[in-house]
Amino acid sequence: MAATIVALMSFAVFLGFVSADPDMLQDVCVADLTAKANVNGFPCKETFNETDFFFDGLAKPGPTNNTFGFVVNTANVEKFPGLNTLGLSLSRGDYAPYGLNRPHSHPRASELVFVLYGELEVGFITTGNVFFTKTIKAGEMFVIPRGLIHFQKNKGPTPAATIGAFNSQLAGTQSIATALFAAKPTVPDDVLAKAFQIDTQQVEMIKAKLAPKN
Ligand SMILES: *[C@@H]1O[C@H](CO)[C@@H](O)[C@H](O)[C@H]1NC(C)=O
Ligand SMILES: *[C@@H]1O[C@H](CO)[C@@H](O)[C@H](O)[C@H]1NC(C)=O
Repeated sequence: MAATIVALMSFAVFLGFVSADPDMLQDVCVADLTAKANVNGFPCKETFNETDFFFDGLAKPGPTNNTFGFVVNTANVEKFPGLNTLGLSLSRGDYAPYGLNRPHSHPRASELVFVLYGELEVGFITTGNVFFTKTIKAGEMFVIPRGLIHFQKNKGPTPAATIGAFNSQLAGTQSIATALFAAKPTVPDDVLAKAFQIDTQQVEMIKAKLAPKN
C-alpha cells in the first residue's frame, strides 16, 4: 500500500517535470476563441487555414514612452489561435533606456528570457527567499522557473529588447505591485500597511500612483 502511494507520487512528480500544459490528443486544435464552452484551453475550430498558424505581432518594437519605460507584447493563444493545446508561447519586451519590467510572476509557465539587443539585469527570487541575478546581453539567456517572482531592467542608455519563451499557451502574468495596490475591488489599506510596515497614507499614495490611467 505504502509502496503504491510512493510509486503514484513519484509518477505525479515525473509528470510535473515533463509537461506544462497538457499533451495534445490530435495534430492541431486551432482555438475557437468565440466558443461558449468552458474548457481547459479552447475548443477546436472546425475550419482553419495557414493564417491560424501565423503571427507577426512581435515583429516590431512596441512603444516604451510610459512611466516604467517598458512594454510587452504577447504571442499567446488569445492572439494566436494555432497555439491552442501546443503548450508554448512567446512574448516580446521592449525597454526604453533604464526601463523596467516590474517584478511579476507567471503562474502557468517557466520562462526563457533571450536578449535581442541591449544589456539587462535579470533576476528571480525563490520561495526560500534567495535572489538569483545576472546581467545578460544580446544573444544570451536566463531561465525563470515557473511561478517565481522576477524582473528585467535595462542597464544602459540605449533601448533593449527581449524575447520570452513560455512552456504554456497562456502563461498568465501577475504583476506584484499592481496586484496588491491596483486590484479591483481594492485590497484593504490596513492589510497593505501592516504587510509592508508603512502607514495607510503611504498605501493610499502608492494606490493613487498605480491606479489605471483611463
Ligand atoms: C483563412 O481563414 C480566414 C478566416 O478565419 C479568412 O479570412 C482567410 O481569407 C482564409 N485564408 C485563406 C488563404 O483561405
Ligand atoms: C507615446 O508615443 C506615441 C507615438 O509617438 C504617442 O502616440 C503616444 O501618445 C505616447 N504615449 C504617451 C503615454 O506619452
